[in-house]
Amino acid sequence: MNRKIIVFDTTLRDGEQVPGAKLNIHQKIEIAQQLKRLNVDIIEAGFPASSAGDFQAVQEIARSVGDSVSITALARAVQKDIDAVYESVKLAQNPLIHIVLGTSNIHVEKKFNRSKDAVMQMGVDAVKYAKTLLPHVQYSTEDASRSDFEYLWKTIEGVVKAGATMINVPDTVGYAIPEEFGDLIRRLNDRLKNLNDSVILSVHCHNDLGLATANTLSAIKNGAQKIECTINGLGERAGNASLEEVVMALKVRESSYNCYTDINTKELLRTSRLVSHLTGLDVQVNKAITGENAFAHSSGIHQDGLLKDKQVYEIMSPEEVGAESMELILTARSGRHAFKNAVEKMGFDTSDAADFELLFEKFLTLADAKKEVYDHDVFYLVTNHRTLGDGSTHLYELESFQVVSNDLYPTATIKLRKGTESIKGSSVGDGPVDALYSVIKNLVGLEVQLKDYKISSLSRGKEAMGRVNIRIEYEGRIYSGRAMDTDIIKASANAFLNGINAVLLDAANN
Ligand code: KIV
Ligand code: ZN
Repeated sequence: MNRKIIVFDTTLRDGEQVPGAKLNIHQKIEIAQQLKRLNVDIIEAGFPASSAGDFQAVQEIARSVGDSVSITALARAVQKDIDAVYESVKLAQNPLIHIVLGTSNIHVEKKFNRSKDAVMQMGVDAVKYAKTLLPHVQYSTEDASRSDFEYLWKTIEGVVKAGATMINVPDTVGYAIPEEFGDLIRRLNDRLKNLNDSVILSVHCHNDLGLATANTLSAIKNGAQKIECTINGLGERAGNASLEEVVMALKVRESSYNCYTDINTKELLRTSRLVSHLTGLDVQVNKAITGENAFAHSSGIHQDGLLKDKQVYEIMSPEEVGAESMELILTARSGRHAFKNAVEKMGFDTSDAADFELLFEKFLTLADAKKEVYDHDVFYLVTNHRTLGDGSTHLYELESFQVVSNDLYPTATIKLRKGTESIKGSSVGDGPVDALYSVIKNLVGLEVQLKDYKISSLSRGKEAMGRVNIRIEYEGRIYSGRAMDTDIIKASANAFLNGINAVLLDAANN
């Protein structure tokens, strides 16, 4: 009989640790709602002890999507962190406390400077404390793949006896290789089943050697019941195991693994695009499952074979991961009904009539500028509209601009609005975008540094949109901003302002 694999998504915790991928609370909720549509079993919503903003985001996620998805958040093995997790997840139907503590010699010696027994006791005490708050507690043995096996087991035995209901075995530094990691999981699983067979064994793999998906699958073959992964493989350094890859490998090769997940695979592409759009981190074009070329066939031999039978070169259909071939093209004359239909088809809620009217006005402005509006455009329009804050923090908006490009004094003049205040100014620069960014910096008075500027074409059709992604540094932190427009200078200005607005929202939430 096929085994169910529990899917734990950590895009909003490990994934959000990527520099520049900082999300505001509205963006996190939007992603959590999409993860619910994707039907993940558990969402790790953040690290609430790290900031007031993170705490509030976890709490809002527990409130808004915790009715059907289990919600957890990360705590170090200390009471203050565990309390923060408890207070932020407790509104969910099925809350879980996740505690992490290192088990490798290097973690024990360098991070804690305590004896191994003392560190283990910290873990046991933390679990005992967490159990006084909630019935479900996950314990992660950080750096498990580089730990001494007997000490690792002793720790697991201790925390299971203290009440841990899930044991997560991380390959924290992406050092493991599939055979070895599979073997580790098999040995732990054998002992765990003897100790307490109701405890769930989980894995969390990093991708430093490009092996996160392979290690996760090897762990499943060897008894892991739960996997931790992220959308688009986001996460610390080279990232985590990519949810879409592991899930589709289990689906396409079901007869090899005899396992299944409850993931609604038709939501994979949409989820990947939403996460990419909101974090500003592009998906590589040849990325398995969700890259733009994942289902594109270019060679003549392949095209010929496909025309004869898709199975000649396709191991899964694009439709299975949500790459629908049919799309309606909207125009300014499409009307409310058609627009509403397109928005709902993407899984967005339109029940708030006043909010839908605002969205429809934005659609009309876009349709006037762009003439033909594609699914892509609707998707970005809705996500931008929904994730720019609740109005409690005044953000900068571009009122008007003029940029003169020449080889002597490229000049930008702009007018910005923030709440009821309107400000304007001009600046010269090394080029038009430099002039634009220099006047914006002067007007907002923030010492931000531009780290990265990227422009690409976003959608198809005659009036293709320019998308600008920027990364700025402010007080040692990286923020990203992005914007789209048929006018690339306007997109450049708005992307920079969105980066600055991210700084303001972060300051307001912390
Ligand atoms: O990589 C890691 O070890 C982690 C733990 C918190 C599970 O992210
Ligand atoms: Zn991790």
